[in-house]
Amino acid sequence: LEQARRPSVIWLSFQECTGCTESLTRSHSPTVESLILGQISLDYHHTLQAAAGSAAEHAREEAMKENYGKYLLIVDGSIPLGNPGYSTIAGISNKDMLLETAKGAAAIVAVGTCAAYGGIPKANPNPTGAVAVSDLIKDKPIINVPGCPPIPVVITGVLAHYLTFGTIPELDAVGRPKVFYGETIHDRCYRRPFYDKGLFAESFDDEGARKGWCLFKLGCKAPVTYNACATTKWNAGTSFPIQSGHGCIGCSEPNFWDMGGFYKA
Ligand code: SF4
Ligand code: F3S
Repeated sequence: LEQARRPSVIWLSFQECTGCTESLTRSHSPTVESLILGQISLDYHHTLQAAAGSAAEHAREEAMKENYGKYLLIVDGSIPLGNPGYSTIAGISNKDMLLETAKGAAAIVAVGTCAAYGGIPKANPNPTGAVAVSDLIKDKPIINVPGCPPIPVVITGVLAHYLTFGTIPELDAVGRPKVFYGETIHDRCYRRPFYDKGLFAESFDDEGARKGWCLFKLGCKAPVTYNACATTKWNAGTSFPIQSGHGCIGCSEPNFWDMGGFYKA
């Protein structure tokens, strides 16, 4: 990574909650500081850039012009097609900005389940007509890095891979790098021995929950969720949802919000 050129990166944020950027800033290896100050030229990012207003838009236009065909485009958030006015930046609809910025990109990384699959904005009844990046862009390589948000080191790990090798990692059927999304969380869960023995917590405060038994009967969706939470964990390897006592809600899977991953009345 040290020897790689500092490529231009343009980060567009559409219908999102800034959780993906929050997550990015928690990466410990590589850190976001080492990425921004040493490895990439982050030419546009609403939350992290110093410029604002027309100066910010000018920076994006200049970066596109100077690095046409070479820059990496990162997107978080879904794109509303229901009405262009639902979400705009500098008076430009998300759709138009995506189409315009994607044209000169070498590749696109869709960070977060919203950019990768539509995410929470797309949840039934999808009031804004939200779609994913891959629904609109068909002629560029796209790497999906889903999660709500994605794991910090998974975001930076995917970026480091691309910047070092200049290639797209091997992807699964829904566009995720297999190195991070190749196994289910259930495959690597430390509670798995309890699952295999049929020992399940039946409520969040029963004896089984206190003993750390399997959370499957409390709705854990990890048997069908592909992500690295049980191996990389979160907060520099400290913990992950299941370790803190709650089942996985499947946040790295397409349509997770509507797939029974949440509580129902
Ligand atoms: Fe599998 Fe979830 Fe049980 Fe862990 S808590 S063993 S991921 S069902
Ligand atoms: Fe998301 Fe499940 Fe990991 S809810 S954060 S994929 S444990």
